[in-house]
Amino acid sequence: METAEADVETVVDELTLEEKIQLVHGAVDPDGTATGYLPGVDRLGIPEFRLADGPLGVRVNGSPATLFPASIALAATFDPNLAREQGAAMGREANARDQDALLGPGLNLIRVPHCGRNFEYYSEDPVLTAAFAGAAVEGIQSADVIATPKHYVANNQETHRASVNVSVSERALRECYLPGFKAAVDAGAGSVMTAYNCVNDSFMSENRPLVTDVLKGEWGFDGYVVSDWFGAVSTVESANGGLDLEMPGVTRDELWEMFDLEPPEDDDDAVFGETADVSDGMPDMTNTGNFGGPLREAVERGDVPHARLDDMVTRILRQMERIGVLGGGRAASPPEDDGHRELAETIAARGTVLLENDGTLPLADDADVAVIGPGVEEISTGGGSSEMDALHEAPTATGIDARATGSVTVERGVPPIEKVSFFGGDDEGDDQRPDPTLDDAVSAAADTDVAVVVVEDAAAEAVDRDDLTLPGGQDELVEDVAAVNDNTVVVVQSSGPVELPWRDDVSAVLESWYPGQADGDALAAVLFGDADPSGRLPVTFANEEDYPVTDDATFPGIDGEVQYDENLLVGYRYFDATEADPVYPFGYGLSYAAFEYRGAELVDERRVEVTVENVSDRAGREVVQAYVRPSNASDDRPVSELGGFEAVSIPAGETVTVDVDIDDLAFTEYDETAGWTALEGPFTIEIGRSARDVEFELTL
Ligand code: NOJ
Repeated sequence: METAEADVETVVDELTLEEKIQLVHGAVDPDGTATGYLPGVDRLGIPEFRLADGPLGVRVNGSPATLFPASIALAATFDPNLAREQGAAMGREANARDQDALLGPGLNLIRVPHCGRNFEYYSEDPVLTAAFAGAAVEGIQSADVIATPKHYVANNQETHRASVNVSVSERALRECYLPGFKAAVDAGAGSVMTAYNCVNDSFMSENRPLVTDVLKGEWGFDGYVVSDWFGAVSTVESANGGLDLEMPGVTRDELWEMFDLEPPEDDDDAVFGETADVSDGMPDMTNTGNFGGPLREAVERGDVPHARLDDMVTRILRQMERIGVLGGGRAASPPEDDGHRELAETIAARGTVLLENDGTLPLADDADVAVIGPGVEEISTGGGSSEMDALHEAPTATGIDARATGSVTVERGVPPIEKVSFFGGDDEGDDQRPDPTLDDAVSAAADTDVAVVVVEDAAAEAVDRDDLTLPGGQDELVEDVAAVNDNTVVVVQSSGPVELPWRDDVSAVLESWYPGQADGDALAAVLFGDADPSGRLPVTFANEEDYPVTDDATFPGIDGEVQYDENLLVGYRYFDATEADPVYPFGYGLSYAAFEYRGAELVDERRVEVTVENVSDRAGREVVQAYVRPSNASDDRPVSELGGFEAVSIPAGETVTVDVDIDDLAFTEYDETAGWTALEGPFTIEIGRSARDVEFELTL
């Protein structure tokens, strides 16, 4: 390690000022494959460096890759090992496509239930988020590709994301919004991407307290800090604040070229694809090149110290050295791996949450099924920079048709839901089929054993959903189908919480998020019982008015400023404090199996041992959860917090003992003068199946 550091130092010493500048801002990728590109310095053996989006798979122009389920679906597995495996698979695919850094994982906390990018994030809970963030980073970097946790920090809404000032307490930052990033850094992340927004009056690209003092100083992060695209708002302030790399560093027109896209003819606000009306959430794309000529001049003037520029370059070269590209010694991954296809399906099935079931699920193999919904002939994913070309596509209806032995009929019921796409054009015009009708859907449903209605929202980067209702008349579609078929199963493909007003009138409800390329195969496995839908909700599902962001000051903000008034009470913590009933609580999810909790005991101060029996005649997966409730906490603390969790497969009729580690975060609080302090005990440790379903209580 020391030799590596010395090597980097030697190279930095030999670089000219011009070459150093070339290494800290992006340029046009001559191959046109990457999202961000550095040209390298040939004479010193510094290679080109390519950065690719993330976080649901690797987007490389012209080279499809595995499209994994949305990150929120991954988090719904409550199994960070799967994040490690998915990370490693994405890392290998990035490496095989000659990419050096992956722009993920996305790990902002889910604060606003209808935030457009919730599908790219993990959870409303910091402990769950941190566990997934750390595992994803380890996985990606195991393939010699740099992970880029993003967007640091408090990018919790897309409305005005490029300008909004987030007013948030230091305490909420430390206890809620930062732990995911800290875990990513502790796991060895080589890079961190700054958010577009301001936090407490300073843009994140130039936020010295959070970037230099906390991230690099307190946490000891020795990688590079990269701006979000067109998010380096200044030269001197950003460089001196701690930003190391400006991306993409090129002009808007060069970007069109790089992504091989046609510039829109007359719409200055349009960003990428023609369907994208996301101007409100986009950065100023004319403000670019701040770390090019302007940085060189600032260094020459002495406004940015030479030592700072050397540090910027050192941080980037250190990561090149680490993955073996600075000497040309990185081992190449194979171009494709069939295991990745299977993994994408396993995660999609395991992340599917069974919200309701009157016994209709799982279906008999020979059930006749009508598959109904506007998007059943496609795979489901979100819009924005995470869009990519999938290697294999299993559309919803195709997967069900392949698995069913009875008859399968397909009806769309309502017109396609309008989606925002950054890259895809609007190909609706090519559809020659007659418009779908509710009547056709209802007749198909009336005529079959089971109606599977697949409903979806439309979420994308740069724009928040309007509300939590399903668009395009889909509630009516469900109600009309349920009125004629007593075995109506609704599958929800959404980016986060949605309202399900008909949930008591149908036989079963599954939340399968955006399942990615394995969509239909994973859904068929769940519907027919080949896989247990073992997901649990990583976010609270509730009526919109019960969330803590219902007035303009808390979302989307007034006069450019948003107040995080709920402070520590993000997600389920707010529902506990207000005693409002969620529709489905955090951590909730059913199973085809049935579990009984037989005992729980404390092994030590940070670990409990829980005994669970699968009392059914089928194998299933249970997620044991431990919540910590301090007895003497101040009034503004959460009533209880998730401390730890463990997902476990339990064969039919068997009993297992599960160890659950409890995170220190649940036993400490951040005081703005004293720093981290221990909370006073005694603590009640609640062992249960969700934030609202406690099976055992222990005292610590
Ligand atoms: C903007 C997005 O916010 C970020 O997540 C992404 O990595 C970059 N664009 C590059 O596409």
